[in-house]
Amino acid sequence: MSKVTVVGAGNVGATVANVLAHKDIVKEIVLLDIVGDLARGKALDSWQQAPIDYYSTKLVGTSDYKDTADSDIVVITAGIPRKPGMSRDDLISTNANIVVSVVKSILEHSKDPIIIVVSNPLDVMTYAAYKASGLPASKVMGMAGILDTARYRAFLATELNVSPKDIQAVLMGGHGDTMVPLPRYTTVAGIPVTELVDAAKLDAIVERTKSGGGELVKLMGTSAWYAPGAAAAQMVEAIVKDENRIFPVCTLMEGHYGLNGIFVGAPVTLGTGGIKKVIELKLNADELALLNDSASAVKEVMDVFDNM
Ligand code: LAC
Repeated sequence: MSKVTVVGAGNVGATVANVLAHKDIVKEIVLLDIVGDLARGKALDSWQQAPIDYYSTKLVGTSDYKDTADSDIVVITAGIPRKPGMSRDDLISTNANIVVSVVKSILEHSKDPIIIVVSNPLDVMTYAAYKASGLPASKVMGMAGILDTARYRAFLATELNVSPKDIQAVLMGGHGDTMVPLPRYTTVAGIPVTELVDAAKLDAIVERTKSGGGELVKLMGTSAWYAPGAAAAQMVEAIVKDENRIFPVCTLMEGHYGLNGIFVGAPVTLGTGGIKKVIELKLNADELALLNDSASAVKEVMDVFDNM
């Protein structure tokens, strides 16, 4: 049975811990935050929910990295969230320092955990964690694609008045305004979405998806947490249960899609050990151009990090 650490007991981190506990698939979840009482409080609150919602996963709140010893999976949500008017990239200098120091502290107590990054700017923070950890790329990944695809699927479900369960989709690229939803790879219970939604409406949904995070920041004054937290928990589940689920995940491109050394979202299979395979879709010229634009946008911010 696995031990999972969630770093950062803010809205996203606490949601990851709480959703994961409800799945009842890991032995222990350590919720760590430098604001130790917040982590202790939220972990205790979630533990007190266990008798009601029937799970055995133990929850521990702490500010001490010793308590994270021998974690199998670490989810990093630490860092500051966006405020209205900010882009994810505006967070880089603050969050890069936080993510690098978190990774170093984690590795003092866990030898080679799988690391799932949730902090923004997502793709570059995943790159930062990869570099700071020295772990293989299969073990260091970012959560964005499941969330962005979920937003896209939710908007389509509303438009079509069907269950979100029946919307299947894949989305690629960076976790920013250049992300690439792929209508050609979107189906509704097997029916191509293009047969059900006209081009103009589909276009509007794609655009709304790209700024889906910003829409919530505007509404709430801070960034989202329910769907982001559930998405990270779903990645943990796929790994713990060795499900070989296919999810869009932020991962290192090593020649895939003609890209090299860049972290962006692409469909992968996820199971024991982390990323087992990056799946290469046969993108058409337009889709590939959009992916390249998105990769260039991520690369610019990667360069900012490299020069810090
Ligand atoms: C969002 C944040 C988590 O997209 O990046 O809501």
